[in-house]
Amino acid sequence: MTTPLKFAALIPAAGSGSRLGFGIPKAFVELHGKTLLQRAIENLSPLVDEVVIALPEGQDFDTSARKIVGGSTRQDSVFRLLQATEADFVLIHDAARPFLGQKVIERIKSRVVQSGAVTAALPATDTLVHTSGGFWGYLVDRSKTWAVQTPQAFRKNLILDAHLKALQEGFDATDDAGLANKYGANVELVLGDAKLFKVTTPADFELAEAFAQLWDRKKEDQA
Ligand code: CTP
Ligand code: MG
Repeated sequence: MTTPLKFAALIPAAGSGSRLGFGIPKAFVELHGKTLLQRAIENLSPLVDEVVIALPEGQDFDTSARKIVGGSTRQDSVFRLLQATEADFVLIHDAARPFLGQKVIERIKSRVVQSGAVTAALPATDTLVHTSGGFWGYLVDRSKTWAVQTPQAFRKNLILDAHLKALQEGFDATDDAGLANKYGANVELVLGDAKLFKVTTPADFELAEAFAQLWDRKKEDQA
């Protein structure tokens, strides 16, 4: 008999939210009465065996999810989360992306068992250019360009090894798919969702606050 594979959701939520500039950690900012972090936990918890969150040092959060203290960079927070789980597979998801639907999670889960490394991503729709001193440099071939989102999922040992190598070499990446790719993983791109945008700036917050009501209404309809 084989034991069922275990999935953990790891949520880095230890950032300060400096670009949002609200003076509190971004994960604790509320959208339509519910924090970004609570939204991330609620979206993921029905589809995984455990949820582990990384909080800013000295901050607590009322939740049944397991809590650890995050690090000074996102990469460090994720590294600590990876050390805190025994799961076979991990889904790493930014607390800053509150509109994560079940379909994306299911797509990611169903692919990672085979691929070992997957990320949600969206084919680019804007025209893309490299800049040169604030002017139009040259056009990027949009047909080959995807915007990378989270969740990103990995066989736990694969991503833990990549983090250990990065630590040794002092390599910094903005996300875990980039880290996995740097150390040789073939990262599969799985279709994400425009609603998975990251709340980074006050303009993103305005969009998210307006959309949250619709999102919550739809959730009630499904229930
Ligand atoms: N994060 C983390 N630990 C850090 C920095 C970031 O866990 N030391 C998390 C954030 O909480 C967020 C995710 O990584 O959920 C993506 O980071 P980002 O959007 O950059 O959030 P902040 O770092 O909080 O924002 P800013 O860069 O504007 O300060
Ligand atoms: Mg940041």
